[in-house]
Amino acid sequence: RALIFVAVVAFATATPTLRSEDNEELRFDDNFLFGVASAAYQIEGAWNEDGKGESIWDHMLHEHPEYTEDRQNGDVAADSYHRYRDDVKIVKEMNMDFYRFSISWPRILPNGDLSLINAKGVEYYNNLIDELLANGIEPMVTMFHWDLPYALQELGGWANRHIATYFRDYADLLFKTYGNKVKWWITLNEPQSFCRGYSGDHFLAPGVEHPGVGEYLCGHTALLAHAHAYHLYEETYRAKQKGEVGITLNSFWYTPKTENDKNAAERAIQFWLGWFANPVFSKEGNYPQVMRERVAANSAKEKLRRSRLPVFTQEEINYIKGTADFFGLNHYTTNYAEEGEEGKTPSADRDAGAIITQNASWPSSGSDWLKVTPTGFRDLLNWIRNAYGDVRIIITENGFSDRNTTVDGILLDDGRVTYFEEYLREMHKAIYTDGVKVFGYTAWTLIDNFEWLHSYQERFGLYYVNFSDPSLTRSAKKSSIYLGEIALTHVV
Ligand code: NOJ
Repeated sequence: RALIFVAVVAFATATPTLRSEDNEELRFDDNFLFGVASAAYQIEGAWNEDGKGESIWDHMLHEHPEYTEDRQNGDVAADSYHRYRDDVKIVKEMNMDFYRFSISWPRILPNGDLSLINAKGVEYYNNLIDELLANGIEPMVTMFHWDLPYALQELGGWANRHIATYFRDYADLLFKTYGNKVKWWITLNEPQSFCRGYSGDHFLAPGVEHPGVGEYLCGHTALLAHAHAYHLYEETYRAKQKGEVGITLNSFWYTPKTENDKNAAERAIQFWLGWFANPVFSKEGNYPQVMRERVAANSAKEKLRRSRLPVFTQEEINYIKGTADFFGLNHYTTNYAEEGEEGKTPSADRDAGAIITQNASWPSSGSDWLKVTPTGFRDLLNWIRNAYGDVRIIITENGFSDRNTTVDGILLDDGRVTYFEEYLREMHKAIYTDGVKVFGYTAWTLIDNFEWLHSYQERFGLYYVNFSDPSLTRSAKKSSIYLGEIALTHVV
């Protein structure tokens, strides 16, 4: 069997499409967890109901409707604020062990700080959590999935390091309020992505433009915020509540475009994943050395009065190191990395000295950045183990988008079925052939929803939502039945 695997892997890695080609039945252990994910701004709607405060996404898209592809926003989205019972029902229909959702910080704390606790907001998540537990589904809570209270953006948002202490207060309230029922906590979702909202590379909220500086300031605060929440749980809540606290980082797999681009690929992943993973998961802590060298004051690369990458004290390095019970990984696709200064977005790629592209012949999706490249998933998981040792990993997102316009085309989503099948098989090999410690898998996403700047045009859902009909009914796509079967049988 091992021989077959080796042969298959060698073949799969050699194919230019990066697809897996074998079809042997693969089984996950009984205790392997399956779940589905969503995020507050993308599904809830009710943006100003029952005392919710304004978030940076509300604010930016009300001011700049032109930032999204179809000029729409998350004001109503899939209306999960009112339809959460329907949502829980479909999580159950898919036989999922857990549901990963996010709490909207301004729904709970409209001013961002503890000056006002919105009882209705607190109640909404209590209802959602109770509904999940009553249906035998574990809640997994993301504390921050990009919708910062606008009141805190007025203080500079994540570019202001004091915001880390506001996050600690918010985390404290969440642990205190929900910690008896919630055992899985994710502090931040994809800091690399939301920090782009401070680089001007991309119109992610808050849409602040300080390329080459803003994203690093944001990242610095985000790391401190994460560590605050972890230490707080450790010191005050863990003994009683017995839950786990982790962080979700996302990463592409970076494959060298030619033999000569191996260093560029390594620098690219250090600047993207290592940026947050190294301070938290490596033995030495701190930002990766290559980042400190290339973005530092008086580095060989540039002569600056001060480092664009903020500097941690040794005390802070020790404070951040080791602050995760698990590594949450979001993964979708592979990029080529090539030696060169003119990187595409984001500016971290430019600082890495890597040109990031993809191969036009890799199978596409509804998103221009997402190609179907399953073998990269296995490569990435192995890279993480090599870099950070036997950390426990949970895949907190993996999924496929399409842009079909007919209902039949949307419901019979073979592209998504194939994507899940191939990615799950590569993940299986990473676990059972290579020994990477992955204990759970989360599909993105429960229902079609607001895909940030691509709005309602890119669909990632396992369930279809008809956004042009006010009933916003959820209907099963083929992929939901496929994945539901796997969650039940553990066989792919
Ligand atoms: C990652 C983000 O966490 C999620 O919000 C987004 O919808 C998916 N990627 C797909 O782009």
